[in-house]
Amino acid sequence: MRSIAVSTANTKANRAPFRHLLLHGPPGTGKTMFARGLAHHSGLDYAVLTGGDIAPLGRDAVTELHKLFDWAKTSRRGLLLFVDEADAFLQSRETSTISEDQRNALNAFLFRTGTESDHFMMVYASNQPSQFDSAVLDRIDEMVEFDLPTEEERRAMIAMYIDKYLLKPPGRWAKKVETLDIGSEEIERVVKETEGFSGRAISKLAIAWQAAAYGTEGAVLDQAAFFHTVQLHKKSMQTKDSWLQNAEHYADALTTDKKVL
Ligand SMILES: Nc1ncnc2c1ncn2[C@@H]1O[C@H](COP(=O)(O)OP(=O)(O)OP(=O)(O)O)[C@@H](O)[C@H]1O
Ligand SMILES: [Mg+2]
Repeated sequence: MRSIAVSTANTKANRAPFRHLLLHGPPGTGKTMFARGLAHHSGLDYAVLTGGDIAPLGRDAVTELHKLFDWAKTSRRGLLLFVDEADAFLQSRETSTISEDQRNALNAFLFRTGTESDHFMMVYASNQPSQFDSAVLDRIDEMVEFDLPTEEERRAMIAMYIDKYLLKPPGRWAKKVETLDIGSEEIERVVKETEGFSGRAISKLAIAWQAAAYGTEGAVLDQAAFFHTVQLHKKSMQTKDSWLQNAEHYADALTTDKKVL
């Protein structure tokens, strides 16, 4: 992130056109978190547009988008415009499912982002960029892939979240959790057991550990509760995975006109 933030700051200093980024990868891998951090470190003004917010605007979406880009021009520092969950808004104009209003909004957006600009930098985040309109993909200069964390990254994240939610919970009233028989060996077992977990899944796991402890007198988390919580989370992840696979299976069958069941 630092290198992107520095090159963005240099771009600003040199008044060169900004580079437009696409952050892509599975859910919960830190795309939104990264973009917010980047906005913070880039020294630019910052605006967020969430894909799903555009459709409810209906006809007004076009006017609102023009207002946003007009406003970008007035920013003295330059603007980082972050389009989160971009697939919801920027999906291909070829698909029959998009409404007339949505098509108009997309055209307005393409019109305003068509020329290189020293006023704004676009950062798109999506877990389904293959649905983007080809004209949007064409506007992207650099792609940053976010993957599920490696074993080493999980180790660091688990340590960080244990610190955050158990040992040093934020807020004046939050009670520190007392851990019982949980040491480096137990934590290492969790590092191995959480293969396939995203950063979001790991943070949720740590929050569940905290909740389990707060459910006891004296906020204690013992070894049995520690591992039981991991097993519950693993199971719910596997269930979600199988739903997703089923959904893909059905979608496949629909497009190929095959019978399922
Ligand atoms: N690399 C990471 N390090 C630490 N925490 C992480 C990491 N990735 C994700 N998280 C945790 O997961 C939460 C959700 O991450 P974020 O919203 O950035 O995911 P995302 O990639 O935007 O997901 P989605 O595709 O569903 O929008 C973060 O607030 C953070 O708590
Ligand atoms: Mg996100």
